[in-house]
Amino acid sequence: MSLVLLSLVALCRSARSTMPQEPNIQCGFEAGPSPEWMVQHTLTPGDLRELRVEPVRTSAAAKDNSILMNISWTLRADASIRLLKATKICVTGKSHVQSYSCVRCNYTEAFQSQTRPSGGKWTFSYIGFPVELSTLYLIGAHNIPNANMNEDGPSLSVNFTSPGCLDHIMKYKQKCIDAGSLWEPNITACKKNEKMVEVNFTNSPLGDRYMILIQYNTSVILENKLTRTSVVIPVNGESEGAVVQVTPYFRTCGNDCIRRKGIVVLCPQTVSPSSPDNNRSVLGGWLPLLLSLLVATWVLAAGIYLTWKHERIKMMSFPTTTTLLPLVKVLVVYPSDVCFHHTVCYFTEFLQNHCRSEVVLEKWQKKRIAEVGPLQWLTTQKQASDKVIFLLSNAAAACDGTCGQNEGAPRENSQDLFPLAFNLFCSDLSSQTHLHKYMVVYFRRADIKDNYNALHVCPKYHLMKDANAFRTELLRVTPHVSVGKWSQACHGSCSPL
Ligand SMILES: *[C@@H]1O[C@H](CO)[C@@H](O)[C@H](O)[C@H]1NC(C)=O
Ligand SMILES: *[C@@H]1O[C@H](CO)[C@@H](O)[C@H](O)[C@H]1NC(C)=O
Ligand SMILES: *[C@@H]1O[C@H](CO)[C@@H](O)[C@H](O)[C@H]1NC(C)=O
Ligand SMILES: *[C@@H]1O[C@H](CO)[C@@H](O)[C@H](O)[C@H]1NC(C)=O
Ligand SMILES: *[C@@H]1O[C@H](CO)[C@@H](O)[C@H](O)[C@H]1NC(C)=O
Ligand SMILES: *[C@@H]1O[C@H](CO)[C@@H](O)[C@H](O)[C@H]1NC(C)=O
Repeated sequence: MSLVLLSLVALCRSARSTMPQEPNIQCGFEAGPSPEWMVQHTLTPGDLRELRVEPVRTSAAAKDNSILMNISWTLRADASIRLLKATKICVTGKSHVQSYSCVRCNYTEAFQSQTRPSGGKWTFSYIGFPVELSTLYLIGAHNIPNANMNEDGPSLSVNFTSPGCLDHIMKYKQKCIDAGSLWEPNITACKKNEKMVEVNFTNSPLGDRYMILIQYNTSVILENKLTRTSVVIPVNGESEGAVVQVTPYFRTCGNDCIRRKGIVVLCPQTVSPSSPDNNRSVLGGWLPLLLSLLVATWVLAAGIYLTWKHERIKMMSFPTTTTLLPLVKVLVVYPSDVCFHHTVCYFTEFLQNHCRSEVVLEKWQKKRIAEVGPLQWLTTQKQASDKVIFLLSNAAAACDGTCGQNEGAPRENSQDLFPLAFNLFCSDLSSQTHLHKYMVVYFRRADIKDNYNALHVCPKYHLMKDANAFRTELLRVTPHVSVGKWSQACHGSCSPL
């Protein structure tokens, strides 16, 4: 047995000595100057013929440093290759912090020929140096032994600017993933008619808030927990061929998430199969590509529709004229005996849909209120809001049977913040501050109860009778909320009335 092994080893040895191994590389970091600098060389190898850099994704598991440089170089096919012992590569990264490091790749064998035995030039590659997003890298390489101390050694350098999150490799950086780089919204948008565009897209697990913009004229902001969103957006003007942009607001990237775009096409005409000629003439001038895209879109949408037909989404929209204006932040306070579903939801939707408002409701922020306490919460919200609206109820009439059966039944376990808010109002009244913020709104004739008499100083609006006056007053404020801030849609316990 051992005899056999021994002879095998001997065989290998002789095979090796008769057929020399091809040189390979062994690379390791070398911070300082190479030892070869210290000695004088009469003969040195020539420089490199070519140096290339590309980012590669090395492993799906190790996330952030998984994108490395693949640095490859080609040796010159000349006689000096016999002197070549190693190649040293140094990389300088120029982002907010400058980085610098070098590797030295030793050739495992001396070069016996100027080209590979199989033909072709000697080419090697080293994978290392993590790649950051959108960074300029200066990569220099020189052969060892290098020129003598005071001589200019031959070296080759290239610049490499790493791409951003949209790149097919860089998108796997954790930072890009957090910004939605792996999200495939599959946006489809079609013009239903002159005034409506339907936009569908697949939600990301990273977040539920999106803003949709159609060629910067029309936008909706929505919050949607479903898997696929379908919204109908009012437009004015020609929408066919317009760009639709979906802006997500994910937790880690906030306002800087990756935005996605689609194109508005004509909706497939499902209702009028009797006029195919008409259809053809409309689509006749279109590229065949667009046609097939339309069909594919429709098939995809139909599939998704079957899956999600039970789901509904809530949306809010703004009249076109006001879309790019900032939202008015409105804190709505209501007494505990109000019927939430009938009164508060209705009013909230009116504010969001017709008054360009971002609404703050106690019911939506229970957790926050529990954390900071009701008074602190109210004080903070009052400061941050452009308007504070006291929504009065007519307790007897407001809640009928249908409401009681609804999930928006009266008050559940809600806090009654109305008296607290009233006290804040009273202190503002005595100090004559923030008084312009307060408004009183009621739907049916509801008397201001005696203990809240002070509210009589506020402007009062009877909706929907005074809707225009109310809207005008509300939109007069210069909101201090930035453009693009989203509103919370009236979800869960509310449905459109
Ligand atoms: C390459 O060779 C140099 C000089 O012989 C040696 O100091 C270094 O450790 C070697 N590096 C590797 C990675 O083998
Ligand atoms: C690195 O680049 C070389 C030369 O272009 C190529 O042959 C090699 O496959 C690349 N390696 C990886 C892991 O992409
Ligand atoms: C690389 O970039 C640096 C700094 O911008 C510049 O000075 C140098 O000329 C560039 N080199 C090449 C080979 O493009
Ligand atoms: C989105 O589209 C791509 C290709 O067009 C497909 O691979 C993917 O499954 C789609 N995703 C969803 C959720 O429909
Ligand atoms: C959007 O989805 C709905 C169903 O959810 C479907 O009826 C409609 O055709 C889709 N529209 C587009 C533009 O994909
Ligand atoms: C958007 O407004 C521009 C001019 O401001 C107009 O040319 C364009 O048709 C409008 N697009 C839509 C979709 O309303």
